[in-house]
Amino acid sequence: MREKAHVREVGPRDGLQLVKTIMPSARKLAWCRGMVEAGINEIEVTSFVPPKVIPQFADAEEVASGAAAITGCRPSVLVPNLRGAERAFALDLAQVNYVLSASEEHNLANVRRSTEESLQDFARIVAARDQRAGARIALGAGIATAFGCTISGSVSEAQVVEIAVRLAEMGADEIIVADTVGYGDPGQVRRLMKAVIAAIGRVPVACHFHDTRGLGLANVTAALEAGVRAFDASLAGLGGCPFAPGATGNIDTEDTVFLLEQLGFDTGADIEALIALRGAVESWLPGERFSGAIARAGLPKTYRAPARVAV
Ligand code: COA
Ligand code: ZN
Repeated sequence: MREKAHVREVGPRDGLQLVKTIMPSARKLAWCRGMVEAGINEIEVTSFVPPKVIPQFADAEEVASGAAAITGCRPSVLVPNLRGAERAFALDLAQVNYVLSASEEHNLANVRRSTEESLQDFARIVAARDQRAGARIALGAGIATAFGCTISGSVSEAQVVEIAVRLAEMGADEIIVADTVGYGDPGQVRRLMKAVIAAIGRVPVACHFHDTRGLGLANVTAALEAGVRAFDASLAGLGGCPFAPGATGNIDTEDTVFLLEQLGFDTGADIEALIALRGAVESWLPGERFSGAIARAGLPKTYRAPARVAV
């Protein structure tokens, strides 16, 4: 039995934030269906932000409920505030991911409040979740700009650890440590992720890397060494925060799966199926730049596709 590593596809959310095309809901759902067929069930499918802030997500309700209806799919959604969380809770989704930034300046640019105000908003979101009837919704809590910020520069590691502890103590079911602008390096990732894991104990941790400066997959390796077993990634390397100057794409899903499988982890994903799906997504987004080495070069002859269990 190989050890599991989880890859969460964030393309329909992060991946679509900077693209010029508004993708029709049916295509977003075809993307989700294709991911599940390729063996990746965890998908961040949309964002509950005001449509005037990011018009791409005007169809958030339709996409989230459509994804929840796909057999085998475990959709999550991003929310920036209590109002977004209430919209998401109304749909009884499995997981809702909140986001705040360790950098005060990025938090102000992204969600128009201080980091402390965002932390207090998370407490209200947990309370709202706990007051609901019905199945318990898991709450992820993302810490953006955890490795540095294009507005303010360096971000204190101690502050990231403190925020992670506060989010965990408030009731987060998962902490997602994000390198929003690709400032992290492997040494920093190993150090910070060890510190976060040691500080928050039982709460699972995921990493969310952007490959802006080419260190995305090196950072995955460093995070694995620190004990992280869950990673966000985006098909074709799409992605980027519209409120972080200079942001570019997430680590590429196919390449991330390839790395994890080569290192002996079981991702459950079929890389050939991911490459085929990527072709469709590329054709839906004319004029965009896509990244990813495996889609360009193909799998090596030496790659042994793991036996897959049907969903
Ligand atoms: N969904 C829908 N509508 C929302 C909303 C949400 N999540 N949050 C607020 N609104 C509405 C309010 O009801 C209000 O509507 P009204 O003008 O009709 O009364 C209006 O939007 C302004 O509300 P306010 O609370 O003042 O928000 P704001 O203007 O301070 O913006 C955020 C705060 C968080 C909503 C906004 O900055 C945002 O969406 N940021 C997300 C950025 C993002 O997605 N970044 C990329 C991912 S990291
Ligand atoms: Zn991101």
